Amino acid sequence: MTRIALVTGANRGLGRATALALARNKIKVVAAARGDARDVVDEIVDAGGEAMAVGMDVADLASIEAARAAVLTGIGQEWDSTTIDVLVNNAGVGLFAPLGAITAEEFDTTFAVNVRGPLFVTQVFLPHLADGASIVNVSSSLSRHVSPATSVYAASKKALEALTRSLAAELGPRGIRVNTIAPGPTATDFNGGAMRDSEAMREALSGQTALGRVGEPEDIADAIAALVSPEFRWATGERIEVSGGVLM
Ligand SMILES: NC(=O)c1ccc[n+]([C@@H]2O[C@H](COP(=O)([O-])OP(=O)(O)OC[C@H]3O[C@@H](n4cnc5c(N)ncnc54)[C@H](OP(=O)(O)O)[C@@H]3O)[C@@H](O)[C@H]2O)c1
Repeated sequence: MTRIALVTGANRGLGRATALALARNKIKVVAAARGDARDVVDEIVDAGGEAMAVGMDVADLASIEAARAAVLTGIGQEWDSTTIDVLVNNAGVGLFAPLGAITAEEFDTTFAVNVRGPLFVTQVFLPHLADGASIVNVSSSLSRHVSPATSVYAASKKALEALTRSLAAELGPRGIRVNTIAPGPTATDFNGGAMRDSEAMREALSGQTALGRVGEPEDIADAIAALVSPEFRWATGERIEVSGGVLM
């Protein structure tokens, strides 16, 4: 039977690429976005896949609850299903500022999206995850190597990795796997699009990777698609870095 995936932040960047990669692997996709994810849904459907869009602001508990209702109605009506097999907690924000410039509001937003979001999305959807489901939380290589002006962002991703390991132990009895994918620098809108648009930044970061370039969204998306496949059935609680070997 075809599996169903829910991807947060699916409208652009890594979330969009992940939605497309999962669909290429014959997984039905619920593309969640706080804005409009209809573009990615159209692209999946045009390519012969199946997808639907739902609204979800992961920093807003009421929005997550509303998304639960929309997802259950949608998958019930469209796909005659009551459960989800794959959850990708991808939505995230960066905060790249030196200590003196960090505000309490920015700190709270970073943790609300990057840590509280994945936790409560998982909590709300847990009753609707099939036994044997797979959860992927998107962390960052910056949780391992240090760079100046990344303190809060790195801390949020480290916290997400701690949640991942704990939830892997907690949800193991239901056969639910929980892992993190930790991307290295990847060419998206992230950090003002610097990894995509700034030649100087791309060159500097390329020189820091073993494979000699920055990542493309598909490099990460394909790894997520592989991680949720049955071939990875015995991996849980893991942090898998997909960074071309950045700053090893
Ligand atoms: N690109 C990199 O170099 C890199 C490296 C390591 C890790 N990551 C991680 O990869 C994930 C995706 O990043 P990206 O590169 O695709 O960045 P991006 O292009 O900036 O996209 C971020 C996505 O997160 C969504 N988002 C932000 N806040 C949200 C909220 N409150 N509710 C729902 N969605 C929200 C955005 O939605 P809107 O369109 O509504 O803003 C967008 O879809 C993030 O967790 C990021 O930390 C990225």
